[in-house]
Amino acid sequence: MTTALPSSASLYDRVQRVIPRIEWSAFSDDIDAILALKRERNAVILAHNYQTPEIFHCVADIVGDSLALAREAMTVDADVIVLAGVHFMAETTKLLNPAKTVLLPDVSAGCSLADSITPADVRLLRERYPGVPVVTYVNTCASVKAEADICCTSGNARAVVESLGVPCVIMIPDEYLAKNVAAQTDVEIIAWKGHCEVHERFTPADIRELREAHPGITVLAHPECPPNVVAEADFAGSTAAMSDYVGRNKPSRVVLMTECSMSDNVAVEHPEVEFIRPCNLCPHMKRITLANIRTALEQNRHVVTIDPQIADRARQSVERMLAI
Ligand code: 13P
Ligand code: SF4
Repeated sequence: MTTALPSSASLYDRVQRVIPRIEWSAFSDDIDAILALKRERNAVILAHNYQTPEIFHCVADIVGDSLALAREAMTVDADVIVLAGVHFMAETTKLLNPAKTVLLPDVSAGCSLADSITPADVRLLRERYPGVPVVTYVNTCASVKAEADICCTSGNARAVVESLGVPCVIMIPDEYLAKNVAAQTDVEIIAWKGHCEVHERFTPADIRELREAHPGITVLAHPECPPNVVAEADFAGSTAAMSDYVGRNKPSRVVLMTECSMSDNVAVEHPEVEFIRPCNLCPHMKRITLANIRTALEQNRHVVTIDPQIADRARQSVERMLAI
C-alpha cells in the first residue's frame, strides 16, 4: 500500500510564522514536485540546520548539525541521498555510505574553512610538529581528512581532542574553534588560521549592544565565533546544541550568533520564544534552493565522487570520530 503524499498546502501550516503567505506561492510547485520525485527515485533529503525553512521543514527527511548528519548518513537505506548543505557535508555522506548515489544540488556550495587548507599544508604541519596528532574539523575536503588522524565537529571537538590521550594536538583549520576548545581543556592545541566567513564577523560589541537594547536576552554563540564573542555569550555550542538549549531552557528572548536560517528553523518549533535576529548569511549554504534540489532529482546531478585512495583514508578519520 502506498501512503498519500503530503501536499505543499498542508505543509504551509508548519512554516506560516516564518514564511509570509505571499511568498509561499513561489515555493509550492517545487515542493510538490520534490515530494513526488523523492518517492519515484527512492531518495531522501538530508538538510543542515542552516537551510532555509521551506527546505528544512517542508522537503527534508533528516535535519541536524554536521555530527547528526554524518551519523544519519551511515544508516540511510534509500538509493539516492540529496545533501542540502555544502560540499564537505556531501563528501562526508559519500564517505560513510559509499554505495549510495549522493547528490549535491549546487557543486559550488563550498566553505571558507574548507578552502583555507590543503593536503600539502597538513603534510608541512606534520613535518614541523613530528609525532603530534592532527585533528581536522569536519569542515574540510576529503583530501585533507585523508591526511589527518581523526575528524571532529563543533559538537564533539573537546571529546575528540581529549580522547587521544596526548598532551598536544594540531587542530585544523578553524583557529577560533581550536582556541575555544583550548579554553576548555588541558591539552595544548596548535591551531591553523582558517576562519568561518559567517562567524568571524560577530564581535563582543554586538553582544553588548544586544544586551542593552533587549534587557534579559539570552545570547547563544557557535564555537566558530571568535573567543571574545564566546566569552560574552551565555552558552556556546554546535547548531544542534543551540537548538536543544532553546528547547530545554525556553528563554523568553534569545539571539543566536550564527547563520540566519537557524533562528527561523528553531522559531518554528518554539512559538513562545522571541527571537532577536541579527545574523550573518552563509552564501554557500544559500546556494541550495528548492529549484536546484528539484533539478538534482530530475537530472541526477551533481553526483558526488571521491577518489577511492583518498576516500579510504578520509573515511578512517571520520569513522574514528564516530567511534568515540
Ligand atoms: P554544526 O552544525 O556542526 O554546528 O556546524 C556549523 C557549520 O558552520 C557548518 O557549516
Ligand atoms: Fe563554512 Fe561558515 Fe558557511 Fe558553515 S557557515 S559552511 S563554516 S562558511
